[in-house]
Amino acid sequence: MARVLITYYSRTGNTEKMAKLVAEGARDVEGVEIELKRVEELSPDDLLVYDGIVIGSPVYYGTMAAAVKELLDRSVKHHGKLKGKVGGAFASSGGPGGGNETTVLDILKAMLIHGMIIQGDPEKDHYGPIAVEAPDKRSAGECRKRGRSVAELTKRLFG
Ligand SMILES: Cc1cc2nc3c(=O)[nH]c(=O)nc-3n(C[C@H](O)[C@H](O)[C@H](O)COP(=O)(O)O)c2cc1C
Repeated sequence: MARVLITYYSRTGNTEKMAKLVAEGARDVEGVEIELKRVEELSPDDLLVYDGIVIGSPVYYGTMAAAVKELLDRSVKHHGKLKGKVGGAFASSGGPGGGNETTVLDILKAMLIHGMIIQGDPEKDHYGPIAVEAPDKRSAGECRKRGRSVAELTKRLFG
């Protein structure tokens, strides 16, 4: 069975709420195993077992939080081995224009450097779900939708 990891860092709970919504959407797709974990629980070795990996972060000075960057930096140990896996990212900022899209793109850049497959969204949050502080109704819908689309693509490629 295809496996999808949704992992996140969150200090005050906003990104965690997004992560739970992404997982909820992903669980709508039958035949895919979904796991939700904080980045602090993971070692780079853990990433190898998943077919799809979605990473969420609060915006810290316009980019991802250090704990997320640390996991990505340590993943160099497996450079090349994440190639072909499905990726995705989401972020929560403190304000509009606070850097949530740049944060999503920074995470996606690392995934692309690993050779991962990223699917955009032609409708709303093109790069990945974004929220200002806690996810509102719009953002919650985007989180669920992205969870579903990552799970669907992962199933299509690995199920
Ligand atoms: C160290 C630090 C840096 C931050 N930098 C930014 C920033 O550059 N832009 C912004 O909009 N919000 C910034 N914030 C606010 C957080 O991104 C925002 O409150 C987010 O929702 C927190 O997510 P969390 O509840 O998952 O920890 C910063 C917060 C902290 C603690």
